[in-house]
Amino acid sequence: MKVLVVGSGGREHAICWKLSQSPKVQELYCAPGNGGIASVAKCVNVGATDVDGMVSWARENAMDFVVVAPDDPLAMGMVDALEEAGIPAFGPRKNAAIVEASKAFSKALMEQYHIPTAKSGTFHDLDSALKYIEQQGAPIVVKADGLALGKGVTVAQTEDEAKLAAAEMMEGRKFGDAGTTLVIEECMTGPEVTVLAFVDGEHVSPMPPSQDHKRAFNGNRGPNTGGMGAITPPPQYTPEIAQRCMDEIFLPTVQALKAEGRPFHGVLYFGLMLTPEGPKVVEYNARFGDPECQAVLSLLDTDLLDIMLACRNGTLDQCDIRWRDGAACCLVLASGGYPLSYQKGYPITGLEEAGKTSMVFHAGTKLGPEGEVLTNGGRVLGVTCTAANLEDAIEASYEAAKHISFKDMHMRTDIGHAF
Ligand code: AMP
Ligand code: GLY
Repeated sequence: MKVLVVGSGGREHAICWKLSQSPKVQELYCAPGNGGIASVAKCVNVGATDVDGMVSWARENAMDFVVVAPDDPLAMGMVDALEEAGIPAFGPRKNAAIVEASKAFSKALMEQYHIPTAKSGTFHDLDSALKYIEQQGAPIVVKADGLALGKGVTVAQTEDEAKLAAAEMMEGRKFGDAGTTLVIEECMTGPEVTVLAFVDGEHVSPMPPSQDHKRAFNGNRGPNTGGMGAITPPPQYTPEIAQRCMDEIFLPTVQALKAEGRPFHGVLYFGLMLTPEGPKVVEYNARFGDPECQAVLSLLDTDLLDIMLACRNGTLDQCDIRWRDGAACCLVLASGGYPLSYQKGYPITGLEEAGKTSMVFHAGTKLGPEGEVLTNGGRVLGVTCTAANLEDAIEASYEAAKHISFKDMHMRTDIGHAF
């Protein structure tokens, strides 16, 4: 089959790497891809949010299957457009991708179907938002309704901080249209865990649980980032908790979406908080998480293409999905200054040496004129190792990362030990 993957980050590199192992994949393309993806797939110069351009390219080049990995094109309806053009695609349609694209939608769904989550209110005007903050008191969490690159959430320790965040989002239009509706919710406590699950509209197959490290600096300090590292499995996610999540969260969510006429096909991301009252949903995403994807897919033992086709075709219950025992760690190497301001275009050394003991997934890289690898984003690389246990996987990632350097390189030194 000829397969196209849409996107350009570490997640897409991991997906391409895994798909390239499938005997059924004869030709693999990635749009737009990056410097590392170029070693496993042919990079295509079409932007990830160019829906018409992507459909035209896929049609003209006779793609048999297109995997839409990032949130924006999913929310824009790229899967719908591809399917309408007769090209089978992996990922939710627009009416199901809304679980990520609108937090107000997700909260209403969870409330209606009694899926455990933080108590919240949804607001369309600032006055009522401010009143609610006063009534509830701090700490309190203020969220922009729409997609804001993971930055639209303020966990406010004081009422003033919450009110300022609400005003900046609604009146200051800090996140544009994404902040014209706000969700304001109770502040939950407990470890955070990610569960990615394959979903085919009806059946759910959870992948091994994982844990992201969202803050820029050690000790979970500093600004929120796209993710500075991920491990699988997090020790806090016991088999008992897994069973509760399946019964109280995963199956009810998939059934709710089906009942609403929005069947979800693709990867559903459950952002969970293990609170003293039990697991609750922090957020849904409509896709693989990044960097979680890099760690989790490293443990997949069966054919990813088969699973993706089964998600699209509604046959997940007949699909052979096996995971290797053991653990994995993905350590993100970022540009100094990320997520605020940072420089790009620096040469990266040591990739070959690091690659002898790890999978180095590229997130923000590009190839220079002589084929040299240059930094090209905030998150640059995801150094990913598997091992029999978590401690060994973490240590192996740090050992491999020692070989890599570029100007102003930044990493956290406590991945896997911060919670
Ligand atoms: P989200 O984009 O909804 O995942 O939120 C980003 C981060 O904010 C989460 O990963 C949590 O660490 C934090 N957060 C979101 N909602 C809550 C909540 N209700 N209580 C405590 N922390 C939260
Ligand atoms: N790692 C968080 C996300 O992908 O949204």
